[in-house]
Amino acid sequence: MQRYRDPEARDKMNPFAEQEAWEEHQIGKSKLQFGSKDRKRSSDDYQYVFEDGIDFVKSSVIEGTQHEEGSDQEAADEKDMLKRELQDERKTLPIYKFRDELLKAVEEYQVIVIVGETGSGKTTQIPQYLHEAGYTAKGKVACTQPRRVAAMSVAARVSQEMGVKLGHEVGYSIRFEDCTSEKTLIKYMTDGMLLREFLGEPDLASYSVVMVDEAHERTLSTDILFGLVKDISRFRPDLKLLISSATLDAEKFSDYFDSAPIFKIPGRRYPVEVHYTKAPEADYIDAAIVTVLQIHVTQPPGDILVFLTGQEEIETIDEILKHRTRGLGTKIAELIICPIYANLPTELQAKIFEPTPEGARKVVLATNIAETSLTIDGIKYVVDPGFCKIKSYNPRTGMESLLINPISKASANQRAGRSGRTGPGKCFRLYTSYNYMHDLEDNTVPEIQRTNLANVVLTLKSLGIHDLVNFDFMDPPPSEALLKALEQLFALSALNSRGELTKTGRRMAEFPLDPMLSKMIVASEKYKCSDEVISVASMLSVGNSIFYRPKDKQVHADNARLNFHTGNVGDHIALLNVYNSWKETDYSTQWCYENYIQVRSMKRARDIRDQLEGLLERVEIEISSNTSDLDAIKKAITSGFFHHSARLQKNGSYRTVKNPQTVFIHPSSGLAQVLPRWVIYHELVLTTKEYMRQVTELKPEWLVEIAPHYYQLKDVDDSGTKKLPKGQGRAAL
Ligand code: CDP
Ligand code: MG
Repeated sequence: MQRYRDPEARDKMNPFAEQEAWEEHQIGKSKLQFGSKDRKRSSDDYQYVFEDGIDFVKSSVIEGTQHEEGSDQEAADEKDMLKRELQDERKTLPIYKFRDELLKAVEEYQVIVIVGETGSGKTTQIPQYLHEAGYTAKGKVACTQPRRVAAMSVAARVSQEMGVKLGHEVGYSIRFEDCTSEKTLIKYMTDGMLLREFLGEPDLASYSVVMVDEAHERTLSTDILFGLVKDISRFRPDLKLLISSATLDAEKFSDYFDSAPIFKIPGRRYPVEVHYTKAPEADYIDAAIVTVLQIHVTQPPGDILVFLTGQEEIETIDEILKHRTRGLGTKIAELIICPIYANLPTELQAKIFEPTPEGARKVVLATNIAETSLTIDGIKYVVDPGFCKIKSYNPRTGMESLLINPISKASANQRAGRSGRTGPGKCFRLYTSYNYMHDLEDNTVPEIQRTNLANVVLTLKSLGIHDLVNFDFMDPPPSEALLKALEQLFALSALNSRGELTKTGRRMAEFPLDPMLSKMIVASEKYKCSDEVISVASMLSVGNSIFYRPKDKQVHADNARLNFHTGNVGDHIALLNVYNSWKETDYSTQWCYENYIQVRSMKRARDIRDQLEGLLERVEIEISSNTSDLDAIKKAITSGFFHHSARLQKNGSYRTVKNPQTVFIHPSSGLAQVLPRWVIYHELVLTTKEYMRQVTELKPEWLVEIAPHYYQLKDVDDSGTKKLPKGQGRAAL
């Protein structure tokens, strides 16, 4: 896929550069490009808001569906209803009119495909209807979501609507967090969690209905669930299956599920005016900020939704918007900024659903989660930079990387549609109509066709499904990727040469982690350092939100961070040091502040660690500690991550050992200045370069010792080659 703009252009080598660049942004005279009436009247008022406006051209209108007469009235009515009881509100959802018909269809058919516009009430209402109709008397109702935040937030909403405590009758289950109880009847969960439930309950006997929601997202877990639920539906005729999707390509789902009937819920959708930029934008972050401010000062009331690729971008924009709107006085309405992304703490998530106070405007900065998983009422303007972050995998090299990629046309249209839910909307695309027409793919490739399958293969194998080639995939993964996964699991000793699960493999499958991480944990038994290794694993699982780096205190923050790296121990051990130091202070919040560490992330790490400790017990690995022997800990890490080894080159770059590729140590690593000769890394991220994140030094002989079937001596033989000019072999010495 062609990249039509370089989103990283601003980020010249330095991943921290973006924040600095913003500060240089000078505030100058505004140039407003749309909303001409407003421009004349008040452009001077706005000169403090942004420097240059963006030229947009209105190019098309996406016609609304079901735009009934009197819809303005309806919109007004709907707004009024927000103030009424939640129960009344439920009745206003488009799905309500179809409640009885839907329940009849569920009674009649075992499998139904449900299609309905986002926001029509599928996720929040259908499980409640099923409950009201008595299905929960026979077993739980499961509703899967591709995203954690959606599962949590929807469960919270439904428990409110039902007037019960979250975790009682209505609960959710996401990785490392089970908010359900004996009482739970309606269970929202990530698709990955339902997949894991098959391990303990292969026929899902405790469920009466499984609703695979957001099916159009086609996540890896959803695709695997399709195969599994289709299979069990054959010998559990009492189990009802609902496959629900926000897009219209329902025939494919229907075909797959043996011509299951399609139930369409006509949505309300108002026309959406689509505006494109006249010319490509060099920097979509800046363009997004300017556009938000432009909308804010020139457009009639209505909230704004901006689609961004991840937490970092959201935080950057949040900060800049706050900075630029600070001290604007009363001339400009208040702008309430609400971020929403996967790691946002629960207590802040509710904020995006709070109605906007009179006279203010809300701007929601969201990841793809707001595309179809969550509906936020009151959105009238959508700003779409046209990108999303996706995992991409090269089955040839076995390398996986997070990339910022252009979205598909289908996504672009879903995004635009978010603005036309309660009245006519406007969507500002930060790309040209030419880009839209020629550079965007029609649809996003299903994840199963672009990801590492090792995890799924391990899960399927532990479910006793051996013949993966003949597994009933809706779209089969490339056979190369399947092979690679088998190979990787074999190298990790999870499978034997006949492709059967080994004892190690069975133990690994107990951990809800990537196989490399689970292997690292299982291997810690041998090196007698399970205590340390689960701390490392939990810290790695939290992601990159441990260290906090406020703009005005970057030097202090960096110094604090480097303290944990004393002795160039590497990033994994540094994470362990952070965890242990925090533990020594009795998990002190104050200590976190002093050390520029995010206390929230640490608490999460502690939760994860507690669970991993429980799982260790389950697989009968004793907790043993070996703090003094760092090599033992590093060897356990290497046992999981030996695929991720790299060797230093003359020019300071690294070359991965197998499937050679040039990579670099991420500047945030404690080893970025040290450049050890051999390293293993946790993951690769592509920004301006292919960076290794979380890096630890390695002795090359460990590779042969630990993974003899994967590495031979010749792979790790580097005697003297480092200083040699190109073309000269060892014979020249
Ligand atoms: O699943 P679908 O997109 O069809 O709709 P839904 O998620 O069930 O949303 C129905 C309504 O519930 C929308 O008006 C949402 O704004 C509202 N909702 C909410 O207020 N809070 C949530 N956490 C989730 C949904
Ligand atoms: Mg939904």
